[in-house]
Amino acid sequence: MDPVTIETDRLLLRAFTSADTDAVHEACQDEDIQFYTPVPVPYRRTDAEKLIGETLPTQWAEDKDCTLGAFRKDTGALVGSYCLTLLSRGVWELGYWAVKEQRGQGFSVEAARALCDWGWTALDVHRIEWWAMVGNTGSRAVAEKLGFTVEGTLRNRSVANDGKPHDWWVGGLLRV
Ligand SMILES: CC(C)(COP(=O)(O)OP(=O)(O)OC[C@H]1O[C@@H](n2cnc3c(N)ncnc32)[C@H](O)[C@@H]1OP(=O)(O)O)[C@@H](O)C(=O)NCCC(=O)NCCS
Repeated sequence: MDPVTIETDRLLLRAFTSADTDAVHEACQDEDIQFYTPVPVPYRRTDAEKLIGETLPTQWAEDKDCTLGAFRKDTGALVGSYCLTLLSRGVWELGYWAVKEQRGQGFSVEAARALCDWGWTALDVHRIEWWAMVGNTGSRAVAEKLGFTVEGTLRNRSVANDGKPHDWWVGGLLRV
């Protein structure tokens, strides 16, 4: 499918373009994004170029991943990246990161809620799943504000960028 555009009170969600490369590259230097999300480490400008120019457009076209950048309507600044990624039939994973300077203003809840609302109407989805490393209280706070039920903790579920296995929380949001 083609990328969509979604408007909320304060944000415009749209596909990234090459003009966003520097902003994405800069945002992904943040140590929390590098620790808690699967971005390449170190994160080079070429990683942002490939993501925006190749990976995301291909995944949209193949109906495998719907990633949108969120931008402030008032300043145009990048707020973060919000995605729904196909895991299995009818199950999509919600993922997100926010630009460090834009955190703490409710933007991630606003953007992720809008993306999920769109997903329920546009995708074949009966469950949206959320995963976060245990201790990522910010991610969990966002998920819980969105209505996710934290369903459990998986021990040593995967190795993080520190090379060590970590426990993960998993949560779900069901179609009502
Ligand atoms: C997790 C993240 C996306 C939150 O972004 P944000 O834009 O600050 O989130 P919001 O402003 O929408 O916050 C929503 C709620 O979560 C709370 N929250 C945000 N960060 C928090 C933290 N570190 N600890 C506890 N609560 C937190 C906020 O207080 C807010 O609740 P409130 O409205 O009651 O005050 C951001 O911290 C981030 O990008 N982290 C690094 C990448 C990451 O971990 N991604 C998720 C991987 S699973």
